Amino acid sequence: MSDKLSVLIIGCGRVSEKHIKAISKLKDKYTLAGLCDNNEEAAHRIIKGAGLKDVKVFTDYKAAIDELSPDVTAVTVPSGLHYAIASYAMEHGSHILLEKPMAMSSSQSREIHELAKKYGRKIAMGHIYRYLPVVGLLQEDIAKGIYGRVTHGTICVRWGHDNDYYDSAAWRGTWKADGGALMNQTIHAIDLLIWLMGSEPCEAKAMIARRLRSIEAEDLGFAVLKLENGALANIEGATCTDPARHMANFSIFCEKASLSIGLNSGKPKLDLRLNGGKKLNNKYLRRQLKEYGLSYTIATALNPHLGIYKNLAESISTGKEPLADSYAGYSSVDTLMGIYKSAKTGEAVALPLTEDFASVDMADYEL
Ligand SMILES: NC(=O)c1ccc[n+]([C@@H]2O[C@H](COP(=O)([O-])OP(=O)(O)OC[C@H]3O[C@@H](n4cnc5c(N)ncnc54)[C@H](O)[C@@H]3O)[C@@H](O)[C@H]2O)c1
Repeated sequence: MSDKLSVLIIGCGRVSEKHIKAISKLKDKYTLAGLCDNNEEAAHRIIKGAGLKDVKVFTDYKAAIDELSPDVTAVTVPSGLHYAIASYAMEHGSHILLEKPMAMSSSQSREIHELAKKYGRKIAMGHIYRYLPVVGLLQEDIAKGIYGRVTHGTICVRWGHDNDYYDSAAWRGTWKADGGALMNQTIHAIDLLIWLMGSEPCEAKAMIARRLRSIEAEDLGFAVLKLENGALANIEGATCTDPARHMANFSIFCEKASLSIGLNSGKPKLDLRLNGGKKLNNKYLRRQLKEYGLSYTIATALNPHLGIYKNLAESISTGKEPLADSYAGYSSVDTLMGIYKSAKTGEAVALPLTEDFASVDMADYEL
């Protein structure tokens, strides 16, 4: 019997290509057993594009899981289908690599998290930013208290998409299957901000708008979170910005340092400073190379899914939870639902939610 983990990928669209590239770089750990897409051509396109061999193709996810019994099921379908497919795969013996957002409501995401515990499965969330090596080093140091108390944090995600992007698939920008700029494009950043700040959100206040795109959900959203440790977090998420200049910036302010990291049109930006101005950039870049090596650092920067697959294989063999685990998936969706609920009601919303809220509950809100 092979000691490699067999993988079934369900959903052969844009993001599945990153999964295929990651698996092909981790041949010692994984073997791709099957691809499933209800549009069979999509699976064959991937097979041809990546030059794959001996990969079975399915159009029905239940049949694929039943026949292959994969060690890992990668769920890369539209977000509105994550809950049904991830639940079925876990019930049938599989660990999961689940794309973000985990599900479309607070109760569904809590249920997925609880199912993982019940069946003893690992879920690695597609929260890519946690897997950048420098980010992991910063998280460790902030958590150790090296920079003193965290006072506040801010994220700005201007990930412009035009109407052609939204028109490229019927599920994009809908309340039922996607959500808007906050739920789709900003959720990894919200997850990262909360992880770096080291405390769970306890209150959300938000406003959203649809400024330019022809979609149901928001193309612009602002939110403020209060965390249990008293820190405040400020969130801007937009897809109504220039599609040619994507940017995501994170700043965490502590008693003794300000730590900013970001991506501007594909270029990484780092501004890590002690109070008074002393730069810490080189210290972290040297540590990153020493602990992770040059080739892994470059490969994960180009494709963070490589880090997710590597970490999931370690997690399955050691029993340790993945870096972005089922709790991270649940908590970020719960926070998102609190943000949407606050935008809808105009009131502050306590977190975690005690009553279910689903993105589809936004359908009767006039944007
Ligand atoms: N982590 C990341 O960086 C990242 C990036 C992009 C997208 N995503 C997430 O990945 C998911 C997919 O996004 P995408 O951009 O690849 O979408 P996509 O529309 O390009 O691809 C989705 C694929 O799923 C297939 N599909 C639909 N229903 C199916 C079913 N019932 N069974 C099997 N296949 C089915 C479609 O035919 C399509 O080929 C979304 O949840 C999205 O939020 C994550």
